[in-house]
Amino acid sequence: MHSGIESPPGVWWKPAHRAEKLWVAVAFGWCMVLFAMMPFWHLKGGQNPSGVRHTVDPQAFMARTQEFINSYQVGTEGGIPVVEPPAGSDIYLIGRLWQWWPILELERGQSYRFHISSLDWQHGFSLQPVNINIQVHPGYEHVITLTPTQAGEYGIICNEFCGIGHHMMTGKIYVTGQRQAEGGARLAEGR
Ligand code: CUA
Repeated sequence: MHSGIESPPGVWWKPAHRAEKLWVAVAFGWCMVLFAMMPFWHLKGGQNPSGVRHTVDPQAFMARTQEFINSYQVGTEGGIPVVEPPAGSDIYLIGRLWQWWPILELERGQSYRFHISSLDWQHGFSLQPVNINIQVHPGYEHVITLTPTQAGEYGIICNEFCGIGHHMMTGKIYVTGQRQAEGGARLAEGR
């Protein structure tokens, strides 16, 4: 009979086989590589928008966006205001069930401070065809320095499932400019 003091019979206390130790070491080493890759790729990968983000009251964000629209609106398209802000200014985009609000008209080669947030659920800002993706949460605001490098019409889709109207949640960004530059839109990430 055994107790908590006396170990039960078995084989579990025998030293691990060399092969098992080797595999544990390989798995641990690979974990460390992946762990190191997270900060490394964040800084060197040039793909993660690492601008400012902070908490924001959705109603306050809505008010700032409405003020932005009131200041620079140049038209309306399908019921959505079209806004042409001056170069270098703060620009706002709201994601909500189920639209991107408003439509932005930007100038090629100019930088803007792009603020984005949601008023209700989680949405996924996805700028096409350049494929720039930003997670959009209610209560959180992303601020990213955005410099369009090519003129044209860009589509915004929602790539985070947000209910029955998810597939219809589309928006637009127009980029005006005379000459075509190389490459797509570039995120300067505020560094
Ligand atoms: Cu918004 Cu899907």
